Amino acid sequence: MAAQDEHDLIIIGAGPGGYVAAIRAAQLGMNVACVEREPALGGTCLRVGCIPSKALLESSELFSVAKPAERRVLARRGREGETSDFGAHGIRLAGVTLDLGAMLGRKNEIVERLTKGVDGLFRKHKITRYVGHGRISGPGAVIVETGKETVALKARRILIATGSAPANLPGVRLDGDRIGTSTEALGYPDVPDHLVIIGAGYIGLELGSVWCRLGAKVTVVEYLDRILSGMDVEIAAEAKRMLERQGLDFHLGRRVMGAQVEGHHCIVECEGAEPIRCDRVLVAVGRIPVTTNLGLETVGITLDEQGRISVDEHFGTSATGIYAIGDVIRGPMLAHKASEEGIACVETLAGGYGHVHYEAIPSVVYTYPEIASVGKTEEELREAKIDYRKGIFPFL
Ligand code: NAI
Repeated sequence: MAAQDEHDLIIIGAGPGGYVAAIRAAQLGMNVACVEREPALGGTCLRVGCIPSKALLESSELFSVAKPAERRVLARRGREGETSDFGAHGIRLAGVTLDLGAMLGRKNEIVERLTKGVDGLFRKHKITRYVGHGRISGPGAVIVETGKETVALKARRILIATGSAPANLPGVRLDGDRIGTSTEALGYPDVPDHLVIIGAGYIGLELGSVWCRLGAKVTVVEYLDRILSGMDVEIAAEAKRMLERQGLDFHLGRRVMGAQVEGHHCIVECEGAEPIRCDRVLVAVGRIPVTTNLGLETVGITLDEQGRISVDEHFGTSATGIYAIGDVIRGPMLAHKASEEGIACVETLAGGYGHVHYEAIPSVVYTYPEIASVGKTEEELREAKIDYRKGIFPFL
């Protein structure tokens, strides 16, 4: 085992929590190391989350706008169903067709550009990077398994920013292809004929919109009797109507009991209803904190009932000198919340003042239209018996 230099701060995880904290800590004069097992920096958000989904949301939105425009031109000429050929008039209006490979390629390029950008920022700020699985081995000690060797690191402080991973349901057999999570749904090699999405949350609605716009029949099965749990009830009901008009089909109040691949199809079993036959399944039922094989037991850190690391108001865990931020602790699993916590945590460590205003964390679902919210919902205010005034303005 190779012994390494001692750092002021070792950060485990280079997602929007960890990489932002690393850069801020370096700016504040700390000697920082960051351990990340993926070759690309940026975590779920940059590699397989926010960024690639937003790239596909924009592309698929353009596709869905372009298609009817062409149809309108052809209809006016009485040539419905044909491909336009105005070339003879000097108008190069080719038929609007989908080049899925190019669309996915653009998304991959954006991801590569941004993750390399984080690489550049790490170099600029002289952050030492370790590629491998990081595990705490005692107070101030981290072990990195690179696959080739085991490296022992020492630090005055350790920051856990290991994020979250997709949750699964009992009875659902993920096969990494037909039955998968958002990771697979960001790169299906062809447009599914029929995609069943389990869970009408952020991921289900965003990726459901993408594949519906690209031509898939999309069925969303949700356990609750509403979509977007936690969001304002009226807004969620309006969003459902608009998404239905775009082609999404909702089966609410239906619990999924299992899903498996059978031949060339998938079968999704629902409680009290006929099984659904489809060709792909996206499981989007929430995310769980990543804490396995982190060596938490070596420093006496325990998890709460939801599997999260408990922290105090300055992100300190029950172990002295060990901190945690982002999806692995309480609060909404949002990239910008993790970044804000990372900055607040290291600014406090540097002797300054760090603070996150949890009442003012915005969230956006990037459907069409986009749905943005901040602060408490009407239902939460009512439950807390807080007086409020309500205003409604039709943007149409
Ligand atoms: P979610 O928690 O938003 O929604 C999951 C849904 O699955 C819930 O409505 C739940 O009732 C339903 N469900 C659970 N078990 C079920 C069952 N057996 N049968 C049918 N339905 C069931 O989780 P989601 O969409 O997976 O997103 C995970 C996290 O990622 C969220 O915390 C979200 O904040 C974050 N995210 C944020 C985005 C953004 O900011 N634009 C985009 C995508 C994800």
